Amino acid sequence: MPPVLTLSNISKSFPGVRALHDVSFALNAGEVTALIGENGAGKSTIVKILTGIYVPDEGEVHVGATPRSFSSPRDSWAAGIAAIHQETVMFDELSVAENIFMGHMPVSASGLVDWPQMRRRATELLKRIDADFGPDALLKQLSVAQKHMVEITRALSHEASVIIMDEPTAALSRNEIDDLFRIIAQLKAEGRAVIFISHKFDEIFRVADAFVCLRDGEKVGAGKIADVTEAKLVSLMVGRPIDQVFPKRDIAIGGTVLKVEGLSNATEFTDVSFELRRGEILGFYGLVGAGRSEAMQCLFGMTRASKGSVTLNGQPLRIASPGDAIGAGISYVPEDRQEQGAVLPLGIRENITLASITSHVKNLFVSRPSELLDVRMLGKRLDVRAAHWEQRLGELSGGNQQKVVIAKWLAAKPKVIILDEPTKGIDVGSKAAVHDFIGELAEEGLAVILVSSELPEIMGLADRVVVMQEGRIAEVFTRGSWSAEEIVAAATGARKAA
Ligand SMILES: Nc1ncnc2c1ncn2[C@@H]1O[C@H](COP(=O)(O)OP(=O)(O)OP(=O)(O)O)[C@@H](O)[C@H]1O
Ligand SMILES: [Mg+2]
Repeated sequence: MPPVLTLSNISKSFPGVRALHDVSFALNAGEVTALIGENGAGKSTIVKILTGIYVPDEGEVHVGATPRSFSSPRDSWAAGIAAIHQETVMFDELSVAENIFMGHMPVSASGLVDWPQMRRRATELLKRIDADFGPDALLKQLSVAQKHMVEITRALSHEASVIIMDEPTAALSRNEIDDLFRIIAQLKAEGRAVIFISHKFDEIFRVADAFVCLRDGEKVGAGKIADVTEAKLVSLMVGRPIDQVFPKRDIAIGGTVLKVEGLSNATEFTDVSFELRRGEILGFYGLVGAGRSEAMQCLFGMTRASKGSVTLNGQPLRIASPGDAIGAGISYVPEDRQEQGAVLPLGIRENITLASITSHVKNLFVSRPSELLDVRMLGKRLDVRAAHWEQRLGELSGGNQQKVVIAKWLAAKPKVIILDEPTKGIDVGSKAAVHDFIGELAEEGLAVILVSSELPEIMGLADRVVVMQEGRIAEVFTRGSWSAEEIVAAATGARKAA
């Protein structure tokens, strides 16, 4: 059978950056092809070319045997290509059903939008992926994970022959990932071709049949997943072998820095109490919707608590806004960098110094050299890859944007730093760098809260793990006396009875 989709000699440059150079590969029906590579390797650029967002400088795309050129997302959609993008492109003020069918709403004989049919089909599709929300919910009411599910539903709403998923699991919990993999198996069985982009090797090995590896915009390898090992893929990606696991640093844990008692809000979390000490890394594990991020956002002053108290170094804190939290020495690196963390039209330097600009004021003026000192140090330490420090954040690859957001909150020189899914979307090499950096921060005496859905990350770094389930703390585990099974069981509520 001829390939469903063929890319031939695709090149694409941006001012100062060669994003893709002479890339060719083909997709077969009923196969999942993993597109892998470091942050900035060119994966999303391929996706954007296939979905008509970017036009390639050179090269051709064939759908089946037909040459195609896409000058808009509409063209590519019409050619049977659907994508779930890394950065969601949806409408907050519209309903779930409207977002699913945006651009291809069913119309009745009279030419008007057939709302009942649209609702009915949306309901069916949402059921197919086991969504816990309905077609009438407004998008803005949904969590990040739920928004992602709307995107998946949107791709399913279209009888596409090619479905592209650019880091679809980044915002999903274990159960939701299982659901997604079930859907992917279904798509394969229906004979569709899937492009799957992920930085998680366990997922790649679970779901992919074939792989294409990019490095600095060039194809450096391709083949069958059955023929390679993880180590082989890693060395293809980064061009050298790397250490993925850093040993836990042996750090003397000091006195209590942060004490949270009975923190509650109306709906999302109840009676959250814990203590955090100097030099400690406190993990927060739970399923999506367990209330971890919500509790942290409340601690950071983004939302108001209905009950509870917070003390920092023995002093009661009254935090009514993020400004108050920053002033008190608490930083929060949000999970959703697009909405809460990054200012895409601004440059890297401005983004990094945004929360700490007052520390660079000398004689009433912002000192550029002082600013750049911080920017260079943090940019290097977190391995931010960019053409220069003034480059607009929106021009960076997704993973590099995430690194800049982490740098911004570290530049604020906090006493307590809350990291919410800090390595989401970050490639294997940089992930190790971020883990090492988190250890170093603790060593320097920072108190760190690490919210993560990745168990190896939590178990590798944390001194203690607070497990939340349905808005409450289910159990607290201590390093040395925990197991992955127990932690997962606590998160799913399976240990409650015990
Ligand atoms: N609109 C743009 N303007 C300038 N440079 C861009 C633009 N879009 C992408 N680039 C650059 O092209 C390169 C490839 O980026 P791309 O987003 O494809 O990476 P990626 O492989 O998806 O990485 P990640 O894993 O971080 O998502 C990067 O150097 C990026 O900065
Ligand atoms: Mg990308």
